[in-house]
Amino acid sequence: MGDFVLKGNICYSVSKTEIKACPHSYIVCMDGKSCGVFEKLPQQYESLPLIDYGNRLIIPGMVDLHIHAPQYAFRGMGMDLELMGWLQEQAFPEEVKYEDLDYACDAYSIFAEQMRKSATTRACIFATRHWKATVLLMNLMEETGLITYVGKVNMDRQAPQELCEEDVEQAILDTRKWLEKNRGKYRNTMPILTPRFLPGCSEPLLEKLQEVRKEYDLPVQSHLSENPEEVESVKKLFPNAGFYGDTYHKYGFFGNDAKTIMAHCVWSTEEEVECMRGNGVFVAHCPASNMNLASGIAPIKRYLELGIKVGLGSDVAGGQNESIFRAMTDAIQVSKLYWRYVDSAWKPLTFEEVFYMATKGGGEFFGKVGSFEEGYELDAIVLDDSMQPYPQELSLRQRLERSIYLSIDLNGIYAKYVAGKKVKCS
Ligand code: GUN
Ligand code: FE
Repeated sequence: MGDFVLKGNICYSVSKTEIKACPHSYIVCMDGKSCGVFEKLPQQYESLPLIDYGNRLIIPGMVDLHIHAPQYAFRGMGMDLELMGWLQEQAFPEEVKYEDLDYACDAYSIFAEQMRKSATTRACIFATRHWKATVLLMNLMEETGLITYVGKVNMDRQAPQELCEEDVEQAILDTRKWLEKNRGKYRNTMPILTPRFLPGCSEPLLEKLQEVRKEYDLPVQSHLSENPEEVESVKKLFPNAGFYGDTYHKYGFFGNDAKTIMAHCVWSTEEEVECMRGNGVFVAHCPASNMNLASGIAPIKRYLELGIKVGLGSDVAGGQNESIFRAMTDAIQVSKLYWRYVDSAWKPLTFEEVFYMATKGGGEFFGKVGSFEEGYELDAIVLDDSMQPYPQELSLRQRLERSIYLSIDLNGIYAKYVAGKKVKCS
């Protein structure tokens, strides 16, 4: 698809405190990038093809910084557990099945199809330990047109034997096979190093993964300080570390050597928070998961004020669905409980802040992504909010807020563009 103009009711974040709402306006897309939003179409763009979305809303595509593809199959089930029990009873038994490529193909096809239909245009995805199934997932994600990072999971302890790497040598062989299989193969699908979490990773494994990371220049994703029992176990497993993330830092997995996303950060200590800030670690805030697994409430307002990079994650199946609209409202709601019950120093998150996190905040992990400002890659979704009728006059800002609160993304997206390319989403 070449250059074009979209017309409609356009909303996008310019900062944590400001959403621009531009009724009946134009976005110009050239070479996959936005040339800006205009109330009146400048003459030099008049010859470009124009797609008029009428009274519908056009907003940036959603960025999901943390989702587990193999857990999609059991979303919404087995939620009455905390993290460590939930992993043993729900997540691990399901993930074992991805050794079987027929099962992986069935399950991952459903996942990819649902992601295609969702409001998400960019995602960072965990697969399982199995390198072949991970390649299969990458093939399927490439077909969706979304731009994603996908990681073969590395773990060598505290899980059923079938889910643990046989030994460090085999782990590295498998990780290399996975990386060689996808090298230069995709336009939109990129590998990301994925040590699962510290209870599941021995130091010899982390050490060897560091070499692989450097050799292939990979970004990193993992979990951090999610649950009190997990944090306690990490203290015992790594007694010399100053804090949970200190061990990731030791191996260059904490923003110090590579672009890094850490999911959750509910129980991070002052030192850990300072290290995340100093190294530009992205926090994937996953409020649905933190509620479902009773992990707690991450102090996101504080992180934002400290200048930490924060995006949102669905964390399916800790979170029950892939809706980043839902993640936005959950983020606001849990922040209200945090303010009321935990620390009145930190006011609730605003709609502007969560919209920023869902788009421009998380989008930064992918480059200039998540806004319609000039020079940003054009990821856009078109919403038809007439599916939730209203009798009164509403401003564009009100229509945006209710569309998010009512999670209208779960009923389908009217149109979707990723880096200036139209993607099938129905
Ligand atoms: N920590 C380690 N693995 C997982 C997982 O699959 N989900 C969540 N929420 N936390 C984890
Ligand atoms: Fe997770």
